[in-house]
Amino acid sequence: MAAFLVSWSITTTPLAKQSHFAKRNARLNVSCDKNQTEISHENFDRRNLLLGMGGLYSSSNLPSILPAFATPIEAPDFTKCSRGTNLNTGQPLDVNCCPPLSREFIDYKLPPVKKMRFRPAAHLATKEYIAKFEKAVELMKALPADDPRNFMQQANVHCAYCNLTYEQVGDKDLRIQIHNCWHFFPWHRWYLYFYERILGKLIDDPTFGLPFWNWDNPEGMVMPAMFANSNSPLYDARRNLNHLPPAIADLAYSGKDAKHPSKIIPHNLTLMYREMIRHARHLEDFYGAKYSTGSKPNPGPGTVERGSHTAMHSWVGEATRTGEDMGNFYSAGRDTLFFGHHANVDRLWTVWQDLRGSKAKHFTDTDWLDTTFLFYDENARLVRVKVGDTMDNIKLGYDFQKVDIPWQKNKPKAHVKKSKIASTSGAPSADRVFPVKLDKVVKILVPRPKKSRSKKDKENEEELLAIEGIDVDTATFVKFDVFINDEDDDPYVLDKAEYAGCFSQLPHKNSSRVKTKIRLGLNELLEDLDCEDDEYILVTLVPIAGGEDITIGGIKIIYVS
Ligand code: C2O
Repeated sequence: MAAFLVSWSITTTPLAKQSHFAKRNARLNVSCDKNQTEISHENFDRRNLLLGMGGLYSSSNLPSILPAFATPIEAPDFTKCSRGTNLNTGQPLDVNCCPPLSREFIDYKLPPVKKMRFRPAAHLATKEYIAKFEKAVELMKALPADDPRNFMQQANVHCAYCNLTYEQVGDKDLRIQIHNCWHFFPWHRWYLYFYERILGKLIDDPTFGLPFWNWDNPEGMVMPAMFANSNSPLYDARRNLNHLPPAIADLAYSGKDAKHPSKIIPHNLTLMYREMIRHARHLEDFYGAKYSTGSKPNPGPGTVERGSHTAMHSWVGEATRTGEDMGNFYSAGRDTLFFGHHANVDRLWTVWQDLRGSKAKHFTDTDWLDTTFLFYDENARLVRVKVGDTMDNIKLGYDFQKVDIPWQKNKPKAHVKKSKIASTSGAPSADRVFPVKLDKVVKILVPRPKKSRSKKDKENEEELLAIEGIDVDTATFVKFDVFINDEDDDPYVLDKAEYAGCFSQLPHKNSSRVKTKIRLGLNELLEDLDCEDDEYILVTLVPIAGGEDITIGGIKIIYVS
């Protein structure tokens, strides 16, 4: 752990001063300065104090409430933003997406909601709305290049938080990555929140909300017309031109167009059912795995992130290896469609919470709640925000147009019930196969520690297939699909219970090898396949993209309550 003290400067500065940006080499109050020994007593962060003092103070003489060993990710120190390195070539990246520096930040308090912002479905938006949105984006593009609210600066916010350009505060050997972990939903919510407020401010409309691309509904499964108009400021030339309207958005896209175009819509609907219901019963499976200070980036993505979300990024981006703009983390924010896409991801978070009824809707772990990030707000002030403030979009002052949620009824059906494939396949058992490279289809028998479980048992515990030690290069698009007890072995048919989901990852600008994991809920799937009494399941891993570059460390069944 680094020994440092932070004097959080909470003073507000007049607006005139705040829009003045320091040069990159200027000193910054927010920096984690090893030599700084003063603490502002009105507003200090006890954990930093404890770190700084080497744990000298005990909890009894400190007024703060943070637990001593909490390790939430902390807002990065912008002065330590680096270009990052391409780990394959050892060369620095050819883009620099570090933000402008500011002399201080303020802790962001959610402003009282006077008027709700309204986020319309993009395919239902009115002409007047589109004109406003276009005007706002035009103004954003016209801001001075070093204004943090400028269009490219805003795009770079995504690049910086996603390309390992920030050190973790408290562990300088590790970097910040807000994807493939439990910060995926909250970080992007904040990112859109300020983007939306900046646009609204530019057109002087406090009710302005971003449009959402309703790709989970057949009505919205083409690129919304407003983004596809080449005369509009919303247009981006760096897209896959085969995917302009009327091409149907493929939520299972993996670099190649669907073999059976008529299957795209039924596939999309069953995929959504899996991501939002079947495989998303546990918080971690929906949100992604825990990631805190001291953890390596990419502990594991949630269902929506690795599925429909990633697919739509690569479906929109150019059909090249690096997939600009939408298909690569560093450039995704340069396409206005990113914000329509993520407004839908953000909406799906709210939908998922609504479908939960009385079940827990978010983590209560302070390592999640107390995580902080820095953003520039609509007044170009640098603000520090907390994950714990993102849980309810209404409190954040915006709501979504109500639309149908058709996929709730699209539970995939078994192709073969009571399949005997696990006992006749002759596939090797899991203990003899790993690690295995996915340069070909791999079939494994995975033992089930418990079988014929009672209804109560199943209510208490979800049986999960844990695929661990997924070793991939972050510079390439990779994807593999997972099937259970599948007899027909047609990797192009996904609207069946035997299809259990995917792992996929967008390329990053910088290349490094990461090890990650996913979990797939099996309770409902095994019931549908009627194989709950079986001792083994047959797992088929089908490489879809970049398989020669994927190694799997192990697969096992776990039970989680
Ligand atoms: Cu930050 Cu959709 O990616």
